[in-house]
Amino acid sequence: MSLDRLLKNPLTLFQRLTLIIFTGLIVAQGLSFWLTMVERNETTANVMVGNVGREVASSVAFLDRVAPTERPGLLPRLARRNYDFILGPGENGAPPDAQLSKDISASIEQSIGSHYPISVNSVPGVREHLQVHVRLSDGSPLTIDVRPVGKLPLSRWLPILLFAQFALMAACCWVAVRHATHPLKELARAADTLGPDLMATHLSEDGPAEVAGAARAFNAMQERIGMYMKERIQILAAISHDLQTPITRMRLRADLMEDEAEREKMQHDLKQMELLVREGVAYARTLHGAAEVRRRIDPDAFMESLIHDYSDAGQAVSLTGQVGRTIMARPQALRRILGNLIDNAIKFSGASEVRVESTQDQKISIVVLDRGAGIPEEQLDAVFQPFYRVESSRNRQTGGTGLGLSIARQLAIAMNASLTLKNRHDGGLEARLTLDDASPVST
Ligand SMILES: Nc1ncnc2c1ncn2[C@@H]1O[C@H](COP(=O)(O)OP(=O)(O)OP(=O)(O)O)[C@@H](O)[C@H]1O
Ligand SMILES: [Mg+2]
Repeated sequence: MSLDRLLKNPLTLFQRLTLIIFTGLIVAQGLSFWLTMVERNETTANVMVGNVGREVASSVAFLDRVAPTERPGLLPRLARRNYDFILGPGENGAPPDAQLSKDISASIEQSIGSHYPISVNSVPGVREHLQVHVRLSDGSPLTIDVRPVGKLPLSRWLPILLFAQFALMAACCWVAVRHATHPLKELARAADTLGPDLMATHLSEDGPAEVAGAARAFNAMQERIGMYMKERIQILAAISHDLQTPITRMRLRADLMEDEAEREKMQHDLKQMELLVREGVAYARTLHGAAEVRRRIDPDAFMESLIHDYSDAGQAVSLTGQVGRTIMARPQALRRILGNLIDNAIKFSGASEVRVESTQDQKISIVVLDRGAGIPEEQLDAVFQPFYRVESSRNRQTGGTGLGLSIARQLAIAMNASLTLKNRHDGGLEARLTLDDASPVST
């Protein structure tokens, strides 16, 4: 994810937690590494300063004792990593101003200053460099040439170890955060799949106490919702069903009415009521019995037979596109969804064009297109509600109860498919049903 996108989009919980914990660990680790290095350098410098003082004292005393002719031969053996001796007056210069140089000169002064008068000056250059001038008992000049090294070099494996630690921290952090956020993902998935078939995913109730508690509560909630829904569907089905008998009786009575005009009006109204009742029963059945088992079908043959039924009935429905492989689907539900969409296209525009598209990610889109008036943008969502009809279509006497799209959407959800409506740029409506062939729904 680019930084720009990261800044614009709110991060997922997983990313946020990972970022916070990982940054915290890195900063803490970096800080402790830095403190260790500072401490180590200070200790090294202190030890070095003390050592230089002591060693220089014994070396100068030794050089002072031996004959001047022997001194040059001894110098290499008296030299150390930080300093060496020069038999001569050395160079002149300004007094040292770096702290380490001052500490070293103070240490040398303390150890030999009472016996030998000394003078100290720094030598200009890239590295810190100073010279301490001493006059030995026989009057000959001796210079201690000091190049202090306050820091120990880093060992080569230290950066590798540091990065290995960072990698370990990143891995632990990833595992911990994944562990914490995974149940949330599962919960969201289960809530998403609670469709009208009421076949919710039963969350596993083991794991950490908090997760198990949430899963238990969620499962109980799903069961309650399922129970309420079933109850309502049963009531709807019962009312719709029981209304059929009195309607039939009323039709018989209406047939006996004398006034022809009144009789026709009555019969028309009864027909409408009958249609509503029939649709009500169908709707209840859709919600109640959407548990059709998925089976392997050949979508191309399936679509051809569906479209044939329409052309046989003299309706202008065309089919383009092919899938070219079998898929897992619920054929009856699929037939009802597509039937409702094609019926709408025919009803509201007179013709329909059906396009089958197969995408690379195992998805299949069946698009039902028409060249009718479309649906006002602000009502594209509302038409999925039961009994909702766009005002103009009520006036157009197109018939219908407004349940077609609602049933189609419910069935699509139960199939783990998506059903969307969109107005086409150049007029008409596009209804798109996208089936996820790879979806793990087993029923
Ligand atoms: N292809 C379309 N073109 C224009 N409007 C549409 C189209 N499809 C649906 N609509 C609008 O959406 C409303 C709801 O559609 P839906 O299929 O749910 O009900 P219906 O077709 O009116 O009745 P039913 O399908 O129950 O017989 C329709 O009344 C209509 O106003
Ligand atoms: Mg319809």
